[in-house]
Amino acid sequence: EYMPGLFSELSLRDCELPNRLAVSPMCQYSCDPDGLPTEWHRVHLGSRAVGGAGIVMSEATAVEPRGRITPHDLGIWSDEHAEALQPITEFIRDQGGVPAIQLAHAGHKASKTRPWDGNVPIAPDETDPDGASGWEVLSPSPDAYPPFSGDRPAMQKATQDDIEGVIDAYRDAAERSLEAGFEIAEVHAAHGYLLHEFLSPVTNRREDDYGGSFENRTRLLREVTAAVREVWPDEKPVFVRISGTDWLEDRESWDIDQSVRLAGDLADLGVDLVDVSSGGIHPDQEAAGGPNFQVPLAEAIREGADVAVGAVGGITEPEQAEALVGNGRADLVLVGREFLRDPYFGLRAAGELTDDAPAEWPVQYR
Ligand code: FNR
Repeated sequence: EYMPGLFSELSLRDCELPNRLAVSPMCQYSCDPDGLPTEWHRVHLGSRAVGGAGIVMSEATAVEPRGRITPHDLGIWSDEHAEALQPITEFIRDQGGVPAIQLAHAGHKASKTRPWDGNVPIAPDETDPDGASGWEVLSPSPDAYPPFSGDRPAMQKATQDDIEGVIDAYRDAAERSLEAGFEIAEVHAAHGYLLHEFLSPVTNRREDDYGGSFENRTRLLREVTAAVREVWPDEKPVFVRISGTDWLEDRESWDIDQSVRLAGDLADLGVDLVDVSSGGIHPDQEAAGGPNFQVPLAEAIREGADVAVGAVGGITEPEQAEALVGNGRADLVLVGREFLRDPYFGLRAAGELTDDAPAEWPVQYR
């Protein structure tokens, strides 16, 4: 008989997840430079809902235009965006999945070409190979910019107005996400993008209320989270994705102890699950990689803070995902690249792990 694991239900507030498997957010770089979803998004996200994922999460979706990584990223900065996303969330629901949106701001890692065009910065007066223009990007501390690729010529240090604008943009984006039919809002605070840039002393050299102490560096994320929680209904869950560590032990940086402490603060603000990734702040990072490489970070947060956690990274096998939930190491398993290789990973896993797999398949395919 099937022991409670990957295919056990999970209730977060009034949201009932049919299983513990989620499609990890993955940029598709497939919008025209207007941030609107295309047929690609509908088919890509729709296929994975058909494929048995309990949660289908959108790619990093920009809360304002300058918060896009590339000019081809998805956005949610107008009502038109919400209307265009609505049929996608409806389809995911029809397949028994829970639609989630990752709300993002790329900070100083914005205005870049797509990975297949080199992922290099596009200056405000330049265009990418498709003719899409670059823009001036926002940074907590331009002088601390660690270049991942190419120089960054045009960076603006975030002013108090910019900071308030970002918080408002997140609040408005959450309201629109709700109208679009999303059930879960995830705040993206990982991978060296804006909110992580404020968290980490590697990129935050500010001397105002948003820099210096742990309290100050975490302030922007706490204010953004509170703004999202304020408009997201009490019965629906909010997630936050963080980098559990910068993987930079040779210098002052963001680490797992700070992450555990932050996770407790986020839980107090009404966050239901911390999605634990890592890295992305500096090219000197020494990350291990390989199967389950970020799981110990998720586990440390699950033990040290009173909050559910999601594990992600190097999870490719049904038995592996099953063990993470069954052994109490994580509450949710997010799968990225394996879901690109196999959109039906969820159905395959149900087939291997449970007795009633045929019932999981869409009626059209049984
Ligand atoms: C990603 N990842 C990612 N993460 C995130 O938080 N927001 C995003 O938009 C993206 N975009 C993205 C695009 C692509 C093509 C890949 C492969 C990855 C990271 C992803 O969600 C996941 O955390 C990692 O891929 C590790 O998990 P896997 O792939 O080992 O299961």
